[in-house]
Amino acid sequence: MSQEDLFSFTGSSAAYQGAVSRASQERISDLRQQIAHHDRLYYEQAKPEISDREYDALYRELVDLERAQPELMTSDSPTQKVGGRPQGAFSQVRHLVPMQSLDNTYSAEEISDFVERLQRLLPGEQIPFTIEPKVDGVAICLLYEKGRLVRAATRGDGTTGDEVTRNIRTIGCIPSTLHGKTPDVLEVRGEVYLPKETFARINAERDEQGLPTFANPRNAAAGTLKQLDPNVVAERKLSAVFYGYGAVEPSSVMPRRMEEFFGQLKAWGLPVNPRHWLARDAGEVMAAVTELGRIRRDFPFETDGAVIKADRIEQHARLGSTSKAPRWAIAYKYEPEQARTRLLDITVQVGRSGVLTPVAELEPVFVAGSTVSRATLHNEEEIARKDLRIGDRVLIEKAGDVIPAVVKVLTEERDGSEKEFRMPNHCPVCSAPVTRTEGEVAVRCANPGCAAQARRRIEYFAGRTAMDIEGLGEAMVTQLSEAGLVTDVADLYVLTAEQLLPLERMGEKSVTNLLSAIEASRNQPLWRLLGALGIPHVGVTVARTLASSFGTLDRLAAASEEELIAVEEIGPIMATAIHEWFRDPSVVVLIEKLRTAGLNFGERDPQGSAPAVEGPLKGTTWVLTGTLSIPREEAAEMIRAKGGKVSGSVSAKTTYLLAGDEAGSKLEKAQKLGVTVLDEEAFRGLIF
Ligand code: IVH
Repeated sequence: MSQEDLFSFTGSSAAYQGAVSRASQERISDLRQQIAHHDRLYYEQAKPEISDREYDALYRELVDLERAQPELMTSDSPTQKVGGRPQGAFSQVRHLVPMQSLDNTYSAEEISDFVERLQRLLPGEQIPFTIEPKVDGVAICLLYEKGRLVRAATRGDGTTGDEVTRNIRTIGCIPSTLHGKTPDVLEVRGEVYLPKETFARINAERDEQGLPTFANPRNAAAGTLKQLDPNVVAERKLSAVFYGYGAVEPSSVMPRRMEEFFGQLKAWGLPVNPRHWLARDAGEVMAAVTELGRIRRDFPFETDGAVIKADRIEQHARLGSTSKAPRWAIAYKYEPEQARTRLLDITVQVGRSGVLTPVAELEPVFVAGSTVSRATLHNEEEIARKDLRIGDRVLIEKAGDVIPAVVKVLTEERDGSEKEFRMPNHCPVCSAPVTRTEGEVAVRCANPGCAAQARRRIEYFAGRTAMDIEGLGEAMVTQLSEAGLVTDVADLYVLTAEQLLPLERMGEKSVTNLLSAIEASRNQPLWRLLGALGIPHVGVTVARTLASSFGTLDRLAAASEEELIAVEEIGPIMATAIHEWFRDPSVVVLIEKLRTAGLNFGERDPQGSAPAVEGPLKGTTWVLTGTLSIPREEAAEMIRAKGGKVSGSVSAKTTYLLAGDEAGSKLEKAQKLGVTVLDEEAFRGLIF
């Protein structure tokens, strides 16, 4: 029955009620299906189709309908459970105390209602509150036993979650051992997040590689935690904040107030929210919420709200909870900052691997702290999905507070003059025909000699995470390329002052600075060079691994696919891609040019595994596996510094296997071959 049917209904009151109820029933089941669908996308695939606000609107409508007609409530309604089912690929763990969710509010009035509700439930009592940022990440529960981290799990359905201990151990700010006196059993709860800056970098890289980008830092964090390979997780540089607890034994050690608990978390060595506020009444709560709203963009994580909690922990038990959320806490959601502007044009950018990315050229508009005039549109499919046309009025916001994004078209404002956009069939820079790979959304310029690709490769080579050549940014590279001075990265090393001086904004001083920065980069360690060359699949972490496993660029270039696969972090797809890359004739030429330019191919690395250092471990070969309390590369460097060699795979030549926590197949192999296995403590004994 539609809304109009309902309003024009003229039957008896009982029949009318029946019709209302049937209509609600239909709407309720429709809402439940929609919510279940979006829950699956959000929790299981980390790929939501609608915004949180749209989701909340559906959710609220369902709550209201169920409240109005409690007889229609069922125990499997999404309003009765916490969230997504745990994922299959990870083993499942049961939280000692279930992880709940929070109810959301959107107005000062609803905050007053919350405060009044608590006052009614605890008449005559003082109820102080804490207010803190709501971190938009992935909820996590860490289990510490006698102060040692033994397990980490996602929230899952609230009762059971995915065991993600190995991934969590790669997060630098999460201590494996807590400081000071700790309870015997302690579940701490918090949020794993991807810093906004890192989110921007990862998305730029993914756009560049033609991979789908993450919609926001939370999805990126969720996608990262679901990685089965902890090395990928380590590369993404997740962070965390803790704010709550589950099981605590003995419970007598718990502080009496949330405010004290935050201090306790910090004393244990766990990261906490950078700010929190205390408030005595609804007015003070709202003042804190407003102040947080003003400064929330300064935090390294995305914050879409404030969490208001009763400060006295003893009151929590008496206030209790519903099946889903505690009564003593609530989340306040801020309006997302959006702006309206016009899509003036769509231009096409060429990335370093040739991927063509459409970019929205916008009428400049101020949003969330800065003026926005461009936004990536990722690919053609995305433009079609949003039905974007040149000339459209659009709504924009900043994904993760940092990346400008077109949210939607204001179709009602169209006047018919808007023009559809088609991806070009030829590269806008070199005019070579573009190619489309079956099953990929990306379109590529297939000309490896394309000037735009070359420019991007040079910019990447000079970048901070690569060869770190100061003064060689986008503008400089464009000038050098347009002046015909550089076509590949090796050309940088033959630049002269005479060539640079005539360029725009290049005085004597800047020329000297640039030349000495380029000069200094000849001595960068091998891993930086490997990371800078744009070898497929080789980011900083893999570059470090390759450098330490092979020692020199020549040994890596000569490695067979089997030798590459034998390195712990390298899978067959990566091995093939790396092997092929080194056999590409243009790469062979480039490497020879770089050799002539005098770059360090590993021989000058103090930690290079090539020439054995004199020391007590001389003549020993080590393999490292499992999780150690220090980064593996650091342990490898300690071994090399004492004269040992570090290898990626266990063989009869292996002298020692250093096995950290959760060592897997390498440990088995070492045991079979009778290789001496050392744990971290024994290793430390040997090395110090
Ligand atoms: S307290 C009993 N504090 O937001 C639940 N949650 O939308 C206690 N969240 O499930 C949660 N920042 O995953 C709390 N400062 C904060 C938070 C926070 C983010 C998450 C948490 C929660 C979800 C509810």
